[in-house]
Amino acid sequence: MRVVRLASEIDFTGWRSAARALRAEGAPPEAVVWTVERELFDLTPSPPTAAPANFTVPAAFLELAEQVILHRGPDRLALLYRILWRLEREPRLIENPADPDIARARDMAKAVSRAAHKMKAFVRFRLVEGAATETYAAWFEPAHRVTEAVAPFFVRRFTSMDWTILTPDACVAWDGERLLVSEGADPADAPSEDAQEELWRTYYASIFNPARLNPKQMRQEMPKRYWRNLPEAALIPELIASAQDRAAAMVAAPPRPPSDRVLKAALRHSRDASFGQGAPTTLEELEAGVQVCRRCGLWRDATQGVPGEGAHPAPLMFVGEQPGDQEDLAGRPFVGPAGQMFNRALAEAGVPRDRAFVTNAVKHFKHEARGKRRIHNTPDRGEVTACRWWLDAERRIVRPRVIVMLGATAALGVIGKPTPIGANRGQALQLPDQAQGVVTYHPSFLLRVPDAEAKAKAYAEFVEDLRMAGKLAGLV
Ligand code: URA
Repeated sequence: MRVVRLASEIDFTGWRSAARALRAEGAPPEAVVWTVERELFDLTPSPPTAAPANFTVPAAFLELAEQVILHRGPDRLALLYRILWRLEREPRLIENPADPDIARARDMAKAVSRAAHKMKAFVRFRLVEGAATETYAAWFEPAHRVTEAVAPFFVRRFTSMDWTILTPDACVAWDGERLLVSEGADPADAPSEDAQEELWRTYYASIFNPARLNPKQMRQEMPKRYWRNLPEAALIPELIASAQDRAAAMVAAPPRPPSDRVLKAALRHSRDASFGQGAPTTLEELEAGVQVCRRCGLWRDATQGVPGEGAHPAPLMFVGEQPGDQEDLAGRPFVGPAGQMFNRALAEAGVPRDRAFVTNAVKHFKHEARGKRRIHNTPDRGEVTACRWWLDAERRIVRPRVIVMLGATAALGVIGKPTPIGANRGQALQLPDQAQGVVTYHPSFLLRVPDAEAKAKAYAEFVEDLRMAGKLAGLV
C-alpha cells in the first residue's frame, strides 16, 4: 500500500507531483491511500519516490483537477488519481461525460464553482471595533474549500480596504498590499454587528421589488445556509409576506405629474412658432420641450417625459435606455430598481453621481399593460432615432468629456448605429464630438442574469467600466 500525505486539503501541487510519481512507478489506484491526516497513517509511511515520468495529460484534466481538489468530498483525491491512471489507456476519457468517474468529477467541479460564486455574493464585511486603522472582517462558511481561490476576487473588488475573511478552513487578509493566508478560525473571532448592517438592510429593502417576487428563485440565489451571516436575510420573511400589499400599493399610487413650472414652460413652448425648429439651449427649455414632444408615438401611453438631470456642465454623462415604471411616475431617471443597482455600482467605483449628468436615449416609457402591471418594451430603432434630437441637445448643453452608454439602446442613441456591448466594453471609444465613449451593460441586465456566477462577473465588469469612465472624466 502506498500512502501519500498532502500538506493541506487543497495542496494541488503536492497531489500533482505525487500522482505523477505514482503513475510512473505503476502504482494502481487501489494500492494508493491519499490523506492529509498524519496521525492515521504514521505507521506505514511510504511516500512515492520514483522519478516523474515523461508523460502529458490533457490540459482539461488539470483544469478539472484544480477545481475538484477544493471539493469537501473525501474521495476526491483518489478519484483524480483514478482518472489520471485511466488516461494512459483511454486518452479521450476526459471528453466522456457519461463515464461515472468523469461525471462525478464534473459534478464536484460544478459544486466548487457554485460555492465560489456564493462566497463572492454573500461575504459581508463588518467594521472591526477598536482597531488602530479602519479594518473590516467577515465570517463565512463556504460549502467547499474555495477561500484562497476566491481571495483575488476580493482583492480586486476592495483593493483600498483593509479586510480579513475568516472561514473554518482558512483565513485570508488583505492590508492594501499583500494577501496573507492563515489557518481556519472560529465564528467568535469575527465582529457581529455594526452600522454596515443597517446600511445593507436599507439597501436590500429598497432594491427588493415586490412586483417581481419569486421566492423559489430567491432561495436558489440565496440558499438558506447563508442567511445566518447576511444582515439583510432577517428582512426576507417580512418582505415576502408584505409583497402583495406593497405591489398593489405601487400600482395604486398616483403618478407624480410634471411640476407647474414645467407645464407652464411647455405651454409657452408649444405656442412658440419656432418650437421644434430651434433646439433648446437650456435644460429648462429642453425639459419643457420633452413634455410636449410628438416626434414619435410613445408620449401617448406615458405619464410624462423624463429628461435627464444632474450637474451641467458635467465631465461625465450616463445614458440609459428609457424611463422605467417608477421613473415614468416620478419624472426622474434611474430612481427604480435599476437605479438602485446603478447607484450601488457607482458607489463601489467611487464615481459621485451628483457630479455627473444622467439621462436616457428615449424620454418616454414604452410599455404594454398586462393586467394591472406595466411591462417594459424595448424602444425600436425609429423611436431611438427620433429621440436622438433631445439626447443631442442634452449633449450640447451638458458638454460631457465622457459618455457612458448603459446597454445597446443607449449605444444606438449616442453613436447612431448598433454597437455590440460585449465586443466594445472595457475600452474608451472616440466619439465625433470630441467626447470619449464607454459602452457597458445596462443595470437591468445585471438584475436579470439568472446564474450567480455570470451575475457576479458581469457586475464586477460593470463596476470596472464605471471606474474607468470616472477616471477618464477626472472624477475618480
Ligand atoms: N432604465 C433605464 O434605462 N433608465 C431609467 O431611467 C430607468 C431604468
